[in-house]
This record gives sequence, structure tokens and C-alpha cells, in this order.
Amino acid sequence: MDPATRYLNQLEAAQRQLLTFARELNLLYQSERGRAAELEEALRRLEESYLDMVKTLAFVVEAKDPTTRAHLDRTHDYATALAQVVDADLAADACLRYGFLLHDVGKVGVPEAILNKPGPLDEEEWLIMRSHPEMGVQMVAGIKSLGPAVEVIRSHHERWDGRGYPSGLVGEEIPLSARIFSVCDAFDAMTSDRPYRRALPFEHALEQIVGGAGTQFDPAMADAFVSIADLEALHASLHTRVAPVAHRERILIR
Ligand SMILES: [Fe+2]
Repeated sequence: MDPATRYLNQLEAAQRQLLTFARELNLLYQSERGRAAELEEALRRLEESYLDMVKTLAFVVEAKDPTTRAHLDRTHDYATALAQVVDADLAADACLRYGFLLHDVGKVGVPEAILNKPGPLDEEEWLIMRSHPEMGVQMVAGIKSLGPAVEVIRSHHERWDGRGYPSGLVGEEIPLSARIFSVCDAFDAMTSDRPYRRALPFEHALEQIVGGAGTQFDPAMADAFVSIADLEALHASLHTRVAPVAHRERILIR
């Protein structure tokens, strides 16, 4: 065999080997891709069922503490409306709304005797009560996809002037999602009856929000809250709702 033919034969053999190798590599790649997709799907389902469990816990908190009955639904709706005014991209993140619903999930670990104490809490009781944001964060730690929801849970009791808890964050150190939520949380607390006081009228509560701008609240969030279109109508509808359970189901699927 002349050298040219031998060279051509060797070249063809090398090409065949390369083709076989490429096919095997492709098969391996496809099978790995399939396995990765299966794993991703399993992880997604696991996170979904974990989230369902945590949401159920959030409603257990509501049942443990009668003063917060329907508070979750209302703060969720106020905060969703405020987020839409402040940052449309953030408002579009479904995880943010999970944070609104789950903000007090850590109260599951606070005894009912403290949650429902009619008088002021003593120092030790306050310590336990003030641990609920961090307890909540620990409870949702297994859900990696919660994103801004975790910040609402962790930081909804921080104050703009740094006198809040658990970390005493100041101003924009506080995540935006938590700055949005804390205005709505306070507004709903003020406009709801408590065993020891009547709800403040709508206008009076709004004045308190404006008055707390720059101390308790981010001034921009307080301004934006007051500017929500039809806020009074939203407030009225949230306080005349007759079927909280049905509403709750609506929240969970939208
Ligand atoms: Fe809280």
C-alpha cells in the first residue's frame, strides 16, 4: 500500500472514531440533562410542599392570636397595593407576597400566654416576643426560592431611625420589602380593634403614618402609602369582608 492510501485510511479510521466518540458524548449529555431536569423538578416539588406547610403554619399563628384574625389577609392586600406604587418589578415577584403572608410565622414559637397577654409584657416576655422574626427566618430556611420574602420576615420590625429589632438597621439598610411591609403592618394594627382599645378612624391612622415618617417609617414609603389610589375604599372592603376563608384561598392561588 502506498503511503498516500495508508494516510487516507488512517484519516478515515480517525474520523470514524471521532464520530463514535461524539455520538457517545451526546448520549451522555442527553442522559445527564434528563437527570438534572428530574432533580430540578423533584426539588421544585419539595420546595412547594414545604412552602404549603409554612403557609399553613402562618394561619396557625392567626388562630393562636385572635387579635390578629384576618390581619394576614389585610396586610397582604395593603402591602401588595403599596409595592405596586413603589416598585412594579418587586410587586410582580410572587415571593414577595409569600413574605407578606408569612411575616409573623415565627410567632408559632411564642407561647399563647405571651401572644394574648392583656396587659404589658415584662422584660423576659418581650425578649421572647422579639425573637419571632429570627425564629421565622429559621423556619423558612429550607426554602431557597423565597427571595425577598425572607427579608420581610426578618426585618418587618426594623425602624427607619434604627430603634427597631432584631438588628437595629438604619434607613436603607432595611430591605425595601420590609420597609414597604412595616407601614402596612402598623396601619392595620392601628385600624383594628384590640381587647384594650378601639380601632383608630381611617383618617387618624393615616395621620399617624405621616407622623411616623422619618422615625418609624421610610418617609418615601409613608408618602407612597398615603398616595395609594382608593386606599379608603380598600380599607373599607378589607374590614367588611364576610368570607375570610374563601379570601384566603384566593390569595394562595393568585
Ligand atoms: Fe411581627
